[in-house]
Formats: sequence, structure tokens, C-alpha cells
Amino acid sequence: MKKYNLLVVDDEREILRSLTLTFAEEYEVFTASSGAEALEILKQRKIALVIADQRMPEMTGAELLEKVFQIDPNIVRIILTGYTDIASLIRAINDGHIYQYITKPWERQELRIIVKRALESYELTLENQRLLNELRVANERLSDENQFLRNEVNKDLQDTDIVGQTPAMQDVFEWVNKVTNNSVTVLLTGETGTGKTLVARHIHQHGLRKDRLFIEQNCGALPENLLESELFGHKRGAFTGAIQDRKGLFEVADGGTLFLDEISEMSSALQVKLLQILQEGRFRRVGENEYRQVDVRIVAATNRDLWTEVQKGRFRMDLYYRVNVFPIHIPPLRKRVKDIPLLADYCLKKHRRKLNSQANSFSDAALQALCRYDYPGNVRELENLIERALILSSGPRIEAGEWLPDLSSNATGMTRLERLQRSEIERLLELHQGDLNRVAQDLGVSRTTVWRRLKDYRSQSDPTFDVSK
Ligand SMILES: Nc1ncnc2c1ncn2[C@@H]1O[C@H](COP(=O)(O)OP(=O)(O)OP(=O)(O)O)[C@@H](O)[C@H]1O
Ligand SMILES: [Mg+2]
Repeated sequence: MKKYNLLVVDDEREILRSLTLTFAEEYEVFTASSGAEALEILKQRKIALVIADQRMPEMTGAELLEKVFQIDPNIVRIILTGYTDIASLIRAINDGHIYQYITKPWERQELRIIVKRALESYELTLENQRLLNELRVANERLSDENQFLRNEVNKDLQDTDIVGQTPAMQDVFEWVNKVTNNSVTVLLTGETGTGKTLVARHIHQHGLRKDRLFIEQNCGALPENLLESELFGHKRGAFTGAIQDRKGLFEVADGGTLFLDEISEMSSALQVKLLQILQEGRFRRVGENEYRQVDVRIVAATNRDLWTEVQKGRFRMDLYYRVNVFPIHIPPLRKRVKDIPLLADYCLKKHRRKLNSQANSFSDAALQALCRYDYPGNVRELENLIERALILSSGPRIEAGEWLPDLSSNATGMTRLERLQRSEIERLLELHQGDLNRVAQDLGVSRTTVWRRLKDYRSQSDPTFDVSK
């Protein structure tokens, strides 16, 4: 089978015959003796190229080729014309988008070459269109998948309710609301478990960027070089194991939000790179020379006092000012005791289904006990306590019991949780050779909290023990 169908159009039989002879060997040749007849054939056959004589009664070649262009702009259009038809030739070229005009009489071999070249470019055009189309389909699919993944990722984020009615939390809400409608850098501070991660997600979910990605990276979780390539990406071969180019989280989060948790843990080299992103919006992948531009909103968090870190020379002062543009401090749970019943109830509703529990309220005694405790692990600890209570209780109401921290109990009457806390505090105390500040820092609680605990423990086992030293 021949690859291409050609259509030749002329009202002179002689010319039709001659053209058919010229091309019949290589192509399938169709003939028409008028424009109307040619259009009829075009309806039925897939034609790659049309050669039309300009001078025909009723419809000129140029008029015909204009129609051919309308039917399928890819069909190659060649016009045959006498030397004298300059005016109509110009029109043919302008309106009919003619590939080439051939003057009569023509050189047979020359015409063959022209047609051959024209068909080559026809083939390329079709191939291009096919590829473009594939690309478009692939892109659409990718963008669907993207959307899907984004939704999957965001599903986890859906529940970003922040519970709290105390003035302390109202302040937090007020500050949070000030940053949802812009992309200002936010620094969240607060002890462990106070809700920094929750607030970061909330800011993203309720902000301008909610339809883009929210990405979290704990800066204390990876060694420096791994963290660098995680955040900024790398070029293939930048280091052993870099087997291909890789995007970093800044690029992945482009348009969205990057949550940098434990930002104080960043090495000084990475602090420089972060500073550059915050100042100029640009960075370099590891092993690359060119800069890349990104638009990422940064939310950072720390449970250390960043200013102290600056003073100790562990955190760059210039970066401090860039990160600390809009600090939001989340107070520890013991400073908002009135929120405890609300939070307890919220946690109960959050976990009861998953734990297949019947419980839907607390006894008064249980609530009172919950409010008496001081939660060094803050809301996370409260949440854990409630999960535990849901597992241990069987009725519709959670009673005060073994699962609750009981501050009035003495050392021997300690709950398991308290025993765990005590042994952890004592382990750290030994590790840091009695330095209460460092113990407190490791636990993410204040020095006073540690001190109070120790006092309780020691007075229980040794009434003469003095912790005021
Ligand atoms: N105000 C709140 N309302 C509802 N849930 C809360 C609130 N605060 C914290 N939580 C819940 O408590 C748990 C701990 O919070 P989160 O992980 O955000 O703390 P964090 O400050 O990021 O802790 P860390 O410093 O250890 O990373 C989470 O399950 C979170 O959903
Ligand atoms: Mg967190």
C-alpha cells in the first residue's frame, strides 16, 4: 500500500493524465476535474496533498485551496499557474496558505522533489501534533494525579481545629488570623505538645495557599548534609549516592507552605542558605551553580528560646530577624487550665470512634483530676491520657482511675506514667550532672517544673532532702 494519497485538480484531461503519470509510482493519485469534485473526494479520502490548477471555471485553484485549508490545515497545498496570473497568485498565497506554486510548464523531476519535500514536512507536522497531543493528555493526567495527591496529603490536615476559650488562646487566635491572608514568615514558639504543628497546619489550611502543598521538615531529624539535600535538592553526581537530579522540599512546596520544625537545630551553613531564600527568594541545589527561584511561605517552630540561641552563637542574628518577623507564642497547658475540660472533651470525640469506645463524657471527679495535673507534655500528654482512658474504660462515662495522674499520691502510689516521668527526669539529671537547666531544656519544660517535680519526689523518699541549692 502506498503511504500517501494525492489529489490533483485540473479541468484539462491532459494535465491530469500527465500529473498522474508523474506520481502514480510513489503515491495513490486521485483526480478531479473541478473544485466541487475535489471537495467531494476530500470528504471521502484522507488526502495528504492537493495540486490544483489556478485557472478553472466556477472555482479557481486558490478558492479551492482556501476551502481545503478550512477542512484540514495540515493538507499540503500546491498551485499550478501560468506566468501571467500574478494577481491571483498573490491572493492564493495569502488566503490559501499555499505551500508552493509551480509555474507551467513544469519540470517533472522538479515537481517530484517538491512534492516529496512537502510530504516530509507534512509527516513531521502530523508527528508533532501527535506528540503534542500525547503530551497534553499526559499533562492532564499528571495534573489530575497531582490534585489527587494534594488532596491525599491534605486529608491528614483537614482536622486543624484549634480548641480553646481562655484569653491566652484567644490571643493566639487573634495572631493566627492576622497571618492567614498573607504569606508573612511565622515563628511558632512554645513547649513541646502545645500545638505548634497544629497551628502551622491551620495557618496553611485557612490561608491563601490552601490549594497548594503543605510540607513539613523537622530540622533536628537529619544530619546536616542529608537535610541540605532534602531541603534544597541536588544535582546528579553532587555526592556519592546522588544518582539523579532531585528536587528539594523548597521546590516541591513552591506556591505552598514549608513548615520548618525545630529550626534552631539547623547548622550554620544551612542557616545561610535559608537566609538567602528569605531575603532573595532564591537558592542553589547542592552541586549546582545556577540559582533557582521559589515562592514558598515559611512557618518555623521551635521549643527553644531562639534569642538565647543567638546569644550563645548557635543561631545567626540576621536569620533570627528574618524568621522572627511574626512570632506567635503558644502558652503551656498549665497556663490555660480552664481549657482542659474543653480539650478533654475534644480529644474524647476525636478518638472514641477509632478506639471503638462507648464513652462520651467524664465524671466530675475525672475532670477535676485532669484539671489538677500540670502536663509537662502539654496537650499531647492530655491527648495520650485520654486515649488511654478510652481503652481502659468500659462504660459510657470515664471515671477517675488508674489512668489519671494523681498529684496527691505519694511516690509509692504513683501512676505508671508518673513513674516513667520520674525515671526519665532522674536519667537526664545524671546525664547532665545535676544541671537543672539542661534537664529542663531536654524535656522542653521550664526549670521550675523540673524543680517542682524533684522536690515532690525527693521529699517523698527523703524528707531531709533540700532542692533549694
Ligand atoms: N488547641 C488545641 N486544640 C486541639 N488539639 C490540640 C491543640 N493543641 C494541641 N493539640 C493536639 O495535641 C497534639 C500535639 O500538638 P502538636 O503536635 O501540634 O504540638 P507541638 O507543639 O508541635 O509539639 P512538638 O514541639 O513536640 O513538635 C496534637 O495531636 C494536636 O492535634
Ligand atoms: Mg510539632
